[in-house]
Amino acid sequence: MTVSSFISVSLDPPLVLVSIARGSQLHDLFINAKEFAVNFLADDQKSVSDRFAGRGQNGDRFDGIKFAKGATGSPIIAGVRAVIECRAWQVYDGGDHSILVGEVVQAKTLNSKRPLVYFSQQYTTTELMEFPAPPSDIVW
Ligand SMILES: Cc1cc2nc3c(=O)[nH]c(=O)nc-3n(C[C@H](O)[C@H](O)[C@H](O)COP(=O)(O)O)c2cc1C
Repeated sequence: MTVSSFISVSLDPPLVLVSIARGSQLHDLFINAKEFAVNFLADDQKSVSDRFAGRGQNGDRFDGIKFAKGATGSPIIAGVRAVIECRAWQVYDGGDHSILVGEVVQAKTLNSKRPLVYFSQQYTTTELMEFPAPPSDIVW
């Protein structure tokens, strides 16, 4: 499932969360999963995002998608920028969503592509900002 609700929660233990809509057909599958992976898409993977958001896709979303199984057995999609694999930690009530907190068991950066970003209902990517050193006569 395509999600943008990923958030880092804790460093010790290392915890992250994703928020899953109760109305989704995939909701129960996720909240009952013992492990899951968060695949961070790269900027050339818009079609993968659309596919896993269920856009224009009937049937198995993994059809024709190349993936490997990670340390937890969860799918790691070919070409993703990075992946975080988790063991389910706790599920919290989040209104019309369930907040799925996972303990990170493995995290890997897989290439140096730019990330796919969803902003203002459009796909974009990041641009690195350089912060020049402030002039030395300014006291902050
Ligand atoms: C960019 C983007 C971000 C999304 N983020 C979330 C999210 O954080 N949580 C969620 O439940 N659904 C999110 N969705 C929608 C789900 O991907 C979509 O509702 C789901 O895949 C539909 O599956 P279903 O028909 O089985 O419910 C997002 C969709 C897109 C395109």
